[in-house]
Amino acid sequence: MPSSITRCELTFLEREPIDVDRAVAQHAVYGMVLRELGLEVLEIPADPAFPDCCFVEDVAIVLDRLAVLTRPGAASRRNETPAVAEVLARFRPLVRVEAPATLEGGDVLMLGRTLFVGSSPRSNADGLERLREVAEPLGYRVVAVPVTGCLHLKSAVTALADGRVLANPAWIDVTPFRGLDVIPVAPEEPGAANVLRVNGTIVAHPGFPRTLERVAALGYDVRPLDVSEFLKAEAALTCKSLLFRRH
Ligand code: GLY
Repeated sequence: MPSSITRCELTFLEREPIDVDRAVAQHAVYGMVLRELGLEVLEIPADPAFPDCCFVEDVAIVLDRLAVLTRPGAASRRNETPAVAEVLARFRPLVRVEAPATLEGGDVLMLGRTLFVGSSPRSNADGLERLREVAEPLGYRVVAVPVTGCLHLKSAVTALADGRVLANPAWIDVTPFRGLDVIPVAPEEPGAANVLRVNGTIVAHPGFPRTLERVAALGYDVRPLDVSEFLKAEAALTCKSLLFRRH
């Protein structure tokens, strides 16, 4: 977690002071919670040259048989990829996204064999086509989703189960999710849709209590995890990890 996070990229949000000590503590608890939920956690050392480098989700998309190294739409983030590539190369063959394509993992929501891909300020049509080119031969379906009100697709929609999503319909077009169960966030909690599904548990920021009540009422085990300092950095739960199965 770099102390330079105070200079992170911001697109839709105004800058607010980030308490770096608190962010470091929250980041450590994040790793502990993933371990408690049964995951093996490999940590990549922070590089202060890259204020957003703790948001590793954006620089790779890990499929079952390969990993796609992205080309972030934010130029300041493009050199975050080598550190993540070095670790992922132990687990998957790597393929790359090249200019003029841009793609960030925050715009890619995997539900079973479907990849929903946001067209957002960070991910363009060439990026989506590159992902389609590498993923469709592996049996994935790629579905475009217009993102209008937020930074990334996953700022507005994440998975509760393979057939069910938690979404803020004010920020994205939810039409591509027809056929799935779309659970709306509480309208007064627009940022509540980014939750992290880990082995059946839904890890969620506790600052969105009405939405969390809705999720718990559906029978999910909800694990509150405070990420207040990362919300100020226009990030949330999914951004700080890449979850995949070892082979
Ligand atoms: N601060 C997160 C991002 O803009 O990529």
